[in-house]
Amino acid sequence: MRYFIGNWKMFGVPKSINILKKINSFYSKDIKRSNYRIIITPPYTLIGNYSNYFKKKKILIGSQNCYHKDLFSSNTGAISPFMLKKSGATYTLIGHSDNRGEGDTDTLLKDKVKFSLRNNLKIVFCIGESKKQKKNKQTQTVLKKQLFKVLEKKFNSNNIIVAYEPIWSIGTGELPTTEELNKTIKFIKKILKGIFRKKIPPVLYGGSVDGNSVKLYRDIKEIDGFLIGGASKSSKKFIDIIRNYYR
Ligand code: PGA
Repeated sequence: MRYFIGNWKMFGVPKSINILKKINSFYSKDIKRSNYRIIITPPYTLIGNYSNYFKKKKILIGSQNCYHKDLFSSNTGAISPFMLKKSGATYTLIGHSDNRGEGDTDTLLKDKVKFSLRNNLKIVFCIGESKKQKKNKQTQTVLKKQLFKVLEKKFNSNNIIVAYEPIWSIGTGELPTTEELNKTIKFIKKILKGIFRKKIPPVLYGGSVDGNSVKLYRDIKEIDGFLIGGASKSSKKFIDIIRNYYR
């Protein structure tokens, strides 16, 4: 199974659903290679509306973040995993570098993971090193810590996806070489084996993925899919990624 996840970030209004309708019509006809899944994470404001429309279709809708506790509470502006699940979300991203940058600590992320799983919301857990950490050859140490501090053996790995997103590659066009990425993904899977033993979660790559860069990585068998930011806001660019991956 492969995953193509589109992270819209702060983009989209109700009528942007037309982008997803185009992607869905490609997806429904693409039966030759149906062994992949498309998940789109629009902003909170669109989750209910889009999930309802795609309820009986193959595209899954997810959230970009969630609150770390409570079903309902008095916290102004917060959205709980329970509310997301009830609005039709299947997945939520957790630990995107944008949110880590705004202060989400490992402890908070762990609570978000626990609470999401407890509410039957599957998670896409994002990890990745900064440019400075990469320069100082700390990539593996950083990734290991990010994984160990948050993921636990008792979590059901069927409900978890891990996305490796080097911060220096997000939105910059800078890409890891094929060798670097191969090595890092293998390293992440080794750590995940240590945590989960038998059934480890799929590991995706994210950071400047588009129709061209995906060609660099399509032969790395260990990569189970991609987390796509900028290029997921255009149906053509998103479909190009899938086409070029399978060509
Ligand atoms: P990008 O973003 O594809 O625009 O680099 C990826 C992400 O932030 O998830």
